[in-house]
Amino acid sequence: MMQGLRIDLIAAARPNFMKVAPLFHALRGQAWCRVRLVHTGQHYDKNMSEAFFRDLRLPPPDLHLGVGSGSHAEQTANVMLAYERACVADRPDLIVVVGDVNSTLACGLVGSKLHVTVAHLEAGLRSRDRGMPEEINRLVTDTVADILWTPSPDGDENLAAEGVAADKITRVGNIMIDSYELMRDAIEASGERDKLGLQAREYGVVTLHRPANVDEPEPLAALVRQLKTVATHLPLVFPVHPRTRKNLEAFGLWSELAHALGLTLVEPLGYVDFMNLVCGARVAITDSGGVQEETTYLGIPCLTLRSTTERPITVTEGSNRLVATDALARTVEDILAGRWQHGRKPALWDGHAASRVVADIRRRLLGESGKAAVAEPAVRRAAGNA
Ligand code: UD1
Ligand code: UDP
Repeated sequence: MMQGLRIDLIAAARPNFMKVAPLFHALRGQAWCRVRLVHTGQHYDKNMSEAFFRDLRLPPPDLHLGVGSGSHAEQTANVMLAYERACVADRPDLIVVVGDVNSTLACGLVGSKLHVTVAHLEAGLRSRDRGMPEEINRLVTDTVADILWTPSPDGDENLAAEGVAADKITRVGNIMIDSYELMRDAIEASGERDKLGLQAREYGVVTLHRPANVDEPEPLAALVRQLKTVATHLPLVFPVHPRTRKNLEAFGLWSELAHALGLTLVEPLGYVDFMNLVCGARVAITDSGGVQEETTYLGIPCLTLRSTTERPITVTEGSNRLVATDALARTVEDILAGRWQHGRKPALWDGHAASRVVADIRRRLLGESGKAAVAEPAVRRAAGNA
């Protein structure tokens, strides 16, 4: 019989995998816990899911709920139904949910109603735009979570302002950065830039998938026009998210973009190849949450095509700027002319967030007083990367 604290780690969609992997590697093989890796199946294409398990050296999930796509209610409800059954059959002591996707909210709610301790990794972020599904997911998840692990001081402040008790909150830093550091050697060794014929600092990388940008014809057409203009000055490579591809095709914009001079459209990339592109980029043009953080860590200019961000520290301390679609091409000109803030790495974005999470679990659930063991080599060894 398995002994120890039973921990469920919930993974669901692309941005979850690089948040779950460092924690999985830090917990794996620890005698005091048993980890069950749960994949809800929210993302399921090979290059939206399996590629990340491979790149981040995760084993196949212990449990795959296979929920797939659907409306918000369908997807959230299907995760809840499947995960509740799984919890009743094999009850965990702690459920760790990450990020802000529908599965985060769904599994957090299930755990809370079953009186299982729920921890939210990446707690406290707020865009204050309730038109975004992620903001609703963040608010609800943080309301039901018993433990809130924040990446930055704004997270602590937001939670305090909402009345969350201070003793539920631990600032652990940004776990995305752990994945980058864990995979740094592989990222540097990836030949993706060369494969695409790109020279370091002489191209931009693009990602887009927010409904506000890609779900309606006019905003998407306006983005296509701006990207075509930018690409006449700076080659752009654009790994296209499935939601975006579907809409580009449906709105008759795909062919125009695919044939634009200087623009290369590719399938969504695995983590290692994608980060190889980001590391060498002159600029990232994005609406992704994760890319705002990765570029801040790497000091690469980032233009975020949104009017708000739940990650304000990437603007105040990092290399990110929010930009309206119609200002995109001229803002890229600023960057090419060298007019840009260099930024700095925020505190605790250091590759050691997972060890701080582990220390916090031990303190809270096992009653230990231990400090975080800051041991990057051990984490790297766990990933088979040493
Ligand atoms: C989801 C998250 C979003 C996150 C993004 C990361 C929610 C509400 N949204 O958005 O916060 O930033 O993931 O990428 O949880 N599809 C495929 N193959 C897949 C996955 C999706 O073809 O493997 C297509 C389907 O047509 C699907 C659509 O993409 O309907 C949207 O997928 P969904 O998971 O609902 O939302 P995302 O836009 O991916
Ligand atoms: N990413 C990737 N391949 C791609 C696009 C993104 O590996 O083609 C990675 C990248 O590390 C990024 C992360 O996926 O930070 C987050 O994904 P996404 O932008 O889909 O979600 P968000 O962070 O906006 O929720």
